[in-house]
Amino acid sequence: MNKSWRTYLLWFAQEHIEFRFAEIDSLLSLFSIEMRFAQKPNNEPYWIVEFASENDVKLLASRSVSLRNCLELWGHEKDMWKLHEKLKCYPKHLMDPYFQPNISFKIEVETFCRHFTQKQKVDKLETFSYLPVQGPVNLKNPDVTLQYIEYYGTVANNPPELPYDVFFGRWVASGLRQLIRKFSLKTRKFIGNTSMDPQLSLLMANQACVKDGDIVLDPFVGSGSLLVAAAEFGGYVFGTDIDYLMLHGRTRPSRITQKRREKDESIRANMRQYNLEHKYLDVLVNDFSVPFWKNDCQFDAIITDPPYGIREATERVGTSKENYTVSEEHLSTHIPAKIEYGISNIYRDLLLFSANHLKVGGRVVCWFPVFREDYNENGLPTHPCLRLIANCEQALSKVTSRRLLTFVKVRQPTEAELDLKHNEITDFREKYFIIREETRKEKRMREAQVREENRLRHERDNTVNA
Ligand SMILES: C[S@@+](CC[C@H](N)C(=O)[O-])C[C@H]1O[C@@H](n2cnc3c(N)ncnc32)[C@H](O)[C@@H]1O
Repeated sequence: MNKSWRTYLLWFAQEHIEFRFAEIDSLLSLFSIEMRFAQKPNNEPYWIVEFASENDVKLLASRSVSLRNCLELWGHEKDMWKLHEKLKCYPKHLMDPYFQPNISFKIEVETFCRHFTQKQKVDKLETFSYLPVQGPVNLKNPDVTLQYIEYYGTVANNPPELPYDVFFGRWVASGLRQLIRKFSLKTRKFIGNTSMDPQLSLLMANQACVKDGDIVLDPFVGSGSLLVAAAEFGGYVFGTDIDYLMLHGRTRPSRITQKRREKDESIRANMRQYNLEHKYLDVLVNDFSVPFWKNDCQFDAIITDPPYGIREATERVGTSKENYTVSEEHLSTHIPAKIEYGISNIYRDLLLFSANHLKVGGRVVCWFPVFREDYNENGLPTHPCLRLIANCEQALSKVTSRRLLTFVKVRQPTEAELDLKHNEITDFREKYFIIREETRKEKRMREAQVREENRLRHERDNTVNA
């Protein structure tokens, strides 16, 4: 059967630009929706695309965090007058359903990256008076919202005189931007030093294609931010972490305004705060390098931010002493020693675990830290049963960044594939501290040089004055 494709304008938030491709791709796959590009996308905040059904657009928007709005596009031109010509020729049968005597409407004027007064906006709006509207205007709760958008680029402090592009269309749906505010770390009951920002947590849950009833694991759970996002999208969530104090809400408070933690701070309390407690399975103190799950235990998704060793330790239980044993009398009170858990081993364990414990088709989404100058896709962790399907960069500084990797499990591993060696990965932590030490040394040398120059100048001035 022939599908009747219509053109839509997807308007995105202008942050984490690279991530929007991975997010939309994941959601299209989650909902089995087909979308075609009507215009090749670039770094502008909008895409012009086609969908076969308006329900598909609504479904996509109902889960997208990077999306602000979706419009059915009636016209797109380089200037307002050409747009008017286009709209005057827009097929009547496509407009008619929205311009009925019993259908209320409003027209909004949006100007992207350039400010206009209300009066100027009303003047722009009045140029659309030829539209064959019939119903009453309703500014608060209209049946139909039409939007005229002027796009002045993305450089707010120096916009051009005239817009680069103008658009007109019918609003269809908005994305989930309001969740970013709802889950803000500022108002969250329990946070830690490395709590993940809500927008990125939600993007991760979307890239993992979390859906109602899924079982989702974060093996480096920390304060549980990723569990909140996964639970919001319907997942039953479980976490593990080596840090007993963190899981019991007993680490030093992360807010400078807070002297000591409240008694009831915990991941469960966060879930309660967001009415998601029914999605919370549990959290458990566990060293990820020591597997404890039964072999047949399977997860629908794994989302995690492993430690990079900068703001939190990369540790595992172990000792460097040879033939170390604990005597019977000390066994019950013994606290195991910890040793360094290198990045290569962390990612090897994570991918082996995912290859073993994800359902086929399930996804593992994880952050991976890199030095930008060293970055090379061949240096990423790999496993033959996991296909890398997205890889987005978030810059952390001029020299470092982290990449959000999304893998899908394509098949069950063979015996041999459950005991693979890691591919050598640059030890981010080691290099980070070497570079930091070099930078500090250079700074100390520069400061010493300035002090010496000042001393010599002072000495010279004193000699001249004498
Ligand atoms: C980057 S933090 C995760 C933050 C978390 N996404 C959040 O939103 O709070 C990494 C976590 O890994 C934990 N970790 C470090 N080594 C571990 C190990 N061997 N096994 C399990 N967890 C470990 C740390 O205690 C820390 O909480």
